[in-house]
Amino acid sequence: MTVPHLFRPLALRGLQVRNRVALPPMCQYSAADGLAGDWHLVHLGKFAQGGFGIVFVEATAVEARGRITHGDLGIWCDAQVPALARIAGFLAANGAVPAIQLAHAGRKASMQRPWQGNGPMTAADQEGGERIWPVVAASAEPLEPGWLVPEALDPAGLATVREAWRTATLRAAEAGFGIAEVHSAHGYLLHSFLSPLSNRRNDAYGGDRGGRMRFPLEVVETVRAAWPADRPLFVRISAVDGIDGGWSLEDSVAYAHELKARGVDVVDCSSGGLAGSATAGRNAPRGLGFQVPYAERIRADVGIMTMAVGLVLDAAQAEAIVAAGQADIVAIGREAMNDPNWAVHAARALGLPDGGFAEWPQQYGWWLERRERVLERIRSNSPPVA
Ligand SMILES: Cc1cc2nc3c(=O)[nH]c(=O)nc-3n(C[C@H](O)[C@H](O)[C@H](O)COP(=O)(O)O)c2cc1C
Repeated sequence: MTVPHLFRPLALRGLQVRNRVALPPMCQYSAADGLAGDWHLVHLGKFAQGGFGIVFVEATAVEARGRITHGDLGIWCDAQVPALARIAGFLAANGAVPAIQLAHAGRKASMQRPWQGNGPMTAADQEGGERIWPVVAASAEPLEPGWLVPEALDPAGLATVREAWRTATLRAAEAGFGIAEVHSAHGYLLHSFLSPLSNRRNDAYGGDRGGRMRFPLEVVETVRAAWPADRPLFVRISAVDGIDGGWSLEDSVAYAHELKARGVDVVDCSSGGLAGSATAGRNAPRGLGFQVPYAERIRADVGIMTMAVGLVLDAAQAEAIVAAGQADIVAIGREAMNDPNWAVHAARALGLPDGGFAEWPQQYGWWLERRERVLERIRSNSPPVA
């Protein structure tokens, strides 16, 4: 048989990825002082066992003030490396490429965890001992009325943040991750520079699109220089703001050209989040695979690999995306929470040889393959239900 497109290995610089299925970064809001714990190991480990080719550790803050919430992971100091290294090691030992999203929340930092309200931290939130902290952004404009007013980063502040990305990248390499991703989406720090709706600067880092892209591109250059040459670099973008006068798909195509010129390997195409949550669907209508056209357009116009994400639910849908050349990798987020074995189930659904059981860890696949034969016998012997 011909191997389904979703299960064709992918060469990325010095890496060979076993298939095109990725777990996208998904914050768990379950860290203490930025440290990964057992939750993160078990949570992420399930997806490596479940056959995913790439497993992303959630948005991991390059600076303490760049956390979205007190529960975010961090990589701003060396003490945070061993717990991340343990996760990366487990993912790799189970056949997945360990990946990490490096992030800075900008003016969307100092928030409540989603289940605490998903808004800016309040005095009541501080009663548990967690403190509101000052936040930074491109301009001194809050996300919305009632949110913290960020401090606009001055040249010294920009240098501090760039240096934080550099040292975080070195730590990510040391921890053993195969892929690093720069988070420049969802209204966080780098996106706040890109969008004309959040960047009101009148220095070299604002104004026209070239000015607004300047700082995110400097960060990407810094990360690429610190990241080993044989390891791929992804950048997540919000392909559109979905707000009148905001960042557009044309802007994203131009940005992707610049990313490609700086050695970025894959553009991870999300959208929205400049105001409010990236998953709330407030700014743009959302249907199945609603962001796939962004990945398709950037891939075609720029000639760079893309990752598609957002309401991709089943194997046939994901297979069609890769087969049609809309994206090179498909990320399965919330549906993977629903089914951590999504990738091995997809292998079966797409008709891989031997019922797809070879894709399972042998600790499970050996048994399930035998059980399947028993079940087939039982089914064929059972009288039809009246
Ligand atoms: C709980 C949760 C946490 C998320 N955290 C992140 C994150 O850390 N970084 C990021 O870029 N996107 C984050 N996202 C967005 C996802 O990566 C993904 O783009 C989104 O869920 C859409 O894909 P899906 O429909 O397959 O879930 C998060 C989404 C969820 C549901």
